[in-house]
Amino acid sequence: VWIVDNIVDKQQVYPQIREAAEWLRAGEVVAFPTETVYGLGADAANTAAVEKIFEAKGRPSDNPLIVHVASRAQAEAVATPLPPVAETLMERFWPGPLTLVLPKRAGAVSERVTAGLPTVAVRMPDHPLALALIEASGLALAAPSANRSGRPSPTTAAHVLADLNGRIAGVIDGGPTGIGVESTVLDCSGDVPVILRPGGVTKEMLSEVIGHVAEAAGGGDEQAAPKAPGMKYTHYAPKAPLWIVAGPPAFLQQLVDESRAEGKTVGVLTTEENKDRYAADVVLPCGTRRELTTVAHRLYDTLRRFDETNVDLIYSEAFPEEGLGAAIMNRLRKAAGGRVISG
Ligand code: TXA
Ligand code: MG
Repeated sequence: VWIVDNIVDKQQVYPQIREAAEWLRAGEVVAFPTETVYGLGADAANTAAVEKIFEAKGRPSDNPLIVHVASRAQAEAVATPLPPVAETLMERFWPGPLTLVLPKRAGAVSERVTAGLPTVAVRMPDHPLALALIEASGLALAAPSANRSGRPSPTTAAHVLADLNGRIAGVIDGGPTGIGVESTVLDCSGDVPVILRPGGVTKEMLSEVIGHVAEAAGGGDEQAAPKAPGMKYTHYAPKAPLWIVAGPPAFLQQLVDESRAEGKTVGVLTTEENKDRYAADVVLPCGTRRELTTVAHRLYDTLRRFDETNVDLIYSEAFPEEGLGAAIMNRLRKAAGGRVISG
């Protein structure tokens, strides 16, 4: 573990970063913080190194990875030609939680990164340590979230180690990540930009800059023919089945009471404003409704916490689908396997 959670000088290259960059140049995998979640990085041009990502995660190998860059020049070294809309978006949202699916430059990254697709997903993370690591290594880094496949994405170095200790060269500990859910994935390779996965840069923010933006079939969810191949895999589901409850707290409490009457141990995923309204076995607040960024920030940690309890099932409050709420509900629906109860 390389701890660099106190960045005093952004210009300085910390010895920890230098060491981690050397492991990357040697073809090893290193976990690092981004503004969304921790990523598990490897040299995107080195097939053997990229294989190690799939091995460490236990991830299906036909699921392509995001390439992380620290400059426009690095992006253009892996993707060409850049559609004008992509240039506009890079200008406006990079560095930041926006991944662009672009035509790939032949031979620039391993086929294992793009899973044989003619496109490559590229993003510039808005995190000083991620950018410093990319620069110090001189490499474009292929990096999915640094969790074992089927676990929630990691938002702390401790989450990374809980899943991957012993399977990776190391982790740069930069403290908890900010946004807490993965980047928005936007397909810019066709006529109309399509959101394949909702995230930190919202549909509303994109539309303001480039006008009409489409959403993948199923509202960015994993129905129909998946354009973001990752969407077709079962994502994280807590050990205890999760239901999203669209309705007032009194309705959710009624469901809790019924389940407890059947002898079940029940968990509730709620918010600061509602946490005192529930009588259940485990009640975990996840941020405040007044500021959905706080819900996104805490979501994966809260889901991991339920796995440390003995609940038989979990009822979760629902969130409005606008803005960041779209990303939160997208991840919750995956965790719930699509189960929603309305009342
Ligand atoms: O915030 C994030 O994006 C984090 C941090 C580490 O940067 N990374 C992340 O990577 O979430 P990953 O591998 O878990 O998710 C990548 C998503 C998947 O849904 C994948 O299918 C999609 O991007 N993707 C990658 N390349 C693609 C391509 N060429 N075309 C369409 N979708 C692609
Ligand atoms: Mg992931």
